[in-house]
Amino acid sequence: MAKVLIIFGSTGGNTEIVTDEVAEILSADEHKVTVKRAEESNVNDLKGYGLYIFASSTYGQGLLQDHMLKFFHKVKQTGVKGRKCAVIGLGDNKYNTEYVIEAVKILEKGIKEIEGELVIPALRINKTPIPYLDTSVKDWAKKLSKKIK
Ligand SMILES: Cc1cc2nc3c(=O)[nH]c(=O)nc-3n(C[C@H](O)[C@H](O)[C@H](O)COP(=O)(O)O)c2cc1C
Repeated sequence: MAKVLIIFGSTGGNTEIVTDEVAEILSADEHKVTVKRAEESNVNDLKGYGLYIFASSTYGQGLLQDHMLKFFHKVKQTGVKGRKCAVIGLGDNKYNTEYVIEAVKILEKGIKEIEGELVIPALRINKTPIPYLDTSVKDWAKKLSKKIK
């Protein structure tokens, strides 16, 4: 059993749908999961967890979602140094072909900078997540669950 903190930034609700699903699967596997919106999070919330999942959609030509942009900046300053992390990123290639799901790259780069350990390759969702909830989202969460047991 691991204590897991999921922090997400979501403007239209797509990322939230994915993090809810991941939380449900991890909880069903007996992990203790806390889910927080980036805009309601404080960097002090980062203490005491065995795994940190950062989830964000992509906006504005390859940027993190607004609330996650601000929160992740603070995370990088205060650090989750050496902690276990995982990343979920959403995007849509109709908006930008150059920066598709760029949120993943930004989050992974930031986690590397603060010497976090990425325990699993990122979950990447292009377009609406609904068709993927029972397939790639579920598979990813199950794999992650095994890795943190
Ligand atoms: C104004 C705008 C800009 C966007 N820019 C990008 C982008 O640069 N790259 C990308 O992959 N997706 C981009 N997207 C797509 C969103 O990331 C995608 O719709 C995502 O599912 C939204 O998730 P959310 O509802 O959790 O915020 C953009 C969407 C909007 C509305």
